Formats: sequence, C-alpha cells, structure tokens
Amino acid sequence: VTEPLTGVSRTALWVAYLRAQESEAPEPLFHDPYARRFLEAAPGWPPAVDADGAVAAAGNAFAWQTAVRTRFFDEALLAVAHGGCRQIVLLAAGLDTRAFRLEWPAGTRLFEVDMSTVVDFKEAVLARHGATPRCHRVVVPADLRDAWPQRLAEAGFDAGDRAAWLMEGLLVYLTAPEAARLLTDVTAAAAPGSHLFVEHGGIDPRAIDPNVWLVPAVREVVNLWRGGLGERTPGWLAERGWRVRTHDLDVVAAAYQRPAPVAVIGGFATAVRTEG
Ligand SMILES: C[S@@+](CC[C@H](N)C(=O)[O-])C[C@H]1O[C@@H](n2cnc3c(N)ncnc32)[C@H](O)[C@@H]1O
Repeated sequence: VTEPLTGVSRTALWVAYLRAQESEAPEPLFHDPYARRFLEAAPGWPPAVDADGAVAAAGNAFAWQTAVRTRFFDEALLAVAHGGCRQIVLLAAGLDTRAFRLEWPAGTRLFEVDMSTVVDFKEAVLARHGATPRCHRVVVPADLRDAWPQRLAEAGFDAGDRAAWLMEGLLVYLTAPEAARLLTDVTAAAAPGSHLFVEHGGIDPRAIDPNVWLVPAVREVVNLWRGGLGERTPGWLAERGWRVRTHDLDVVAAAYQRPAPVAVIGGFATAVRTEG
C-alpha cells in the first residue's frame, strides 16, 4: 500500500497515531487494534518531531484530547444504537475503526464518508489484516463540500429513518460557510429523532506555548484549520430544530479520571432532531 494521503486527509494519520499511543498505554480509554497498522502502512509515519519540553507537553495535550473525545463518541454512539437507532453515519470517518471495534446491536448499518484517497488507503490496510466489521458497513467516497447526500442515498442510507451523525475532527477544517452548508445538508437528511454528535472548541490555543506552533509538523496541521462555526455550533443547531446539550471537555475528561492537562474551551455537543 502506498500512502497517498495529502493535505487535510493526512490529519487522519495523526489521529491514528494518537489512537495507537492510547491503545498501547496502561488502562486505555479504548483499544483500537488497527491504528498502529495504518501507520505501518504509511511510509515515514509518524514523522520525526523534535519534542523538547514545550512540544512534548503540547503533544500530550493533543493526545489527551483525542483519547477523551474518542471515548466520549464511542459511548454516545453505542448508547443511541442500543436505544434503537439503526443507522450510523461517520462524516469524515478518516481511519476511524468503530465499525470493527465496537459491539453494535444486530441490524446496525454504519456509513463512512470521506475522500476517496482516504477510503482506498483504509480499505487496503483493513483487507490486508482481514478486519471484519461488527455491523453492516458501507464506505462512501465523497467530498463533504459537494453532493455527498446523493452519494449517501445511493449507498443505501434511508433518510426516512433516524440516524446518528458523527462529525469528529471535521468542522475545524471547513470555513464557516462550508460548515454551515454541511450542517444544513445533515439537517435536511436527518429524520426526527436523529442524533448528532460534534465538537465545539477544544484545547485553548492560548494555553499552548507559542513556540510549538512554529514546529513544522504542527504548522502543517494548524495551517489547515479554518475554524468551522467554532463555539457557535450548538447555538446554530438549536436554531434549526435540534435539541442540544453541551458537555464540557474538562468535565467529561475528569469523569474518565483524565483531568485536563491544559485550559480548554467548550467540548462536545449532542443533539436530537425534533422537527421534520
Ligand atoms: C482529523 S481527521 C478525523 C478523522 C475521523 N473523524 C477520526 O476522528 O478518526 C479529518 C478527516 O476529515 C476528512 N475531510 C476533511 N475535509 C473533508 C471533505 N471536504 N470531504 C470529506 N472528508 C473530509 C479528511 O480526509 C480526514 O480523514
């Protein structure tokens, strides 16, 4: 397998790197057996980073955030699936392996949408390792700034039935208009009773040593950040027929016995579609 991931798609490998680390740590918040396999298939990964004190501290903070959010969304998705929601849509699924590592109820259909280059790389690695999904899994190559709802429908998604929509590590890479358009598309495709899980905020950038932002590997990622709707996301959803709850990242983390190592802003939003 060659590693064709460029631009924003490379960020999926950084997430895999952080998930591999967590999976190999004592008492991990989840176990992702494929995260390391993706890195092994990607030459030069993880890129060498000269981790002095400040860089190492920032690396630990991002690893902490990724671990907490992975666990939070694992629990959120499983809770609604076991509550009877039979369709799961991972928007910008990247190298997410929830289809393979979580215990889905019988009848669960899980759709993964991402760029075709990511999908091709992921499928090749999973096939090489004989990975078997624990649900009915459908991959949907599509650009989320384009006509993706059509691709999803063609792949068998039923917009008449409720679904759980996950946007993890995505909106920050979109501009505010692109994020609003995506959320508008999701809202249009979400039957009443659908669930939506998303981040708003995260690590407070002011809590990171300014020198860290100059490290090339960090700059490569940060240069891709467009901000999405930022902290406005919960309010935006609430105004468009979603009943929204917010969950502060530091509170969620403390409940996992992983207190925040840095200052944070906001956290997660979970929402239920109330209007058709
Ligand atoms: C930081 S990764 C997160 C991946 C996954 N949600 C996870 O948490 O493991 C960001 C992902 O967003 C995808 N992405 C960004 N913009 C996209 C777009 N316009 N259409 C489809 N995928 C996109 C990238 O390809 C990448 O896989």
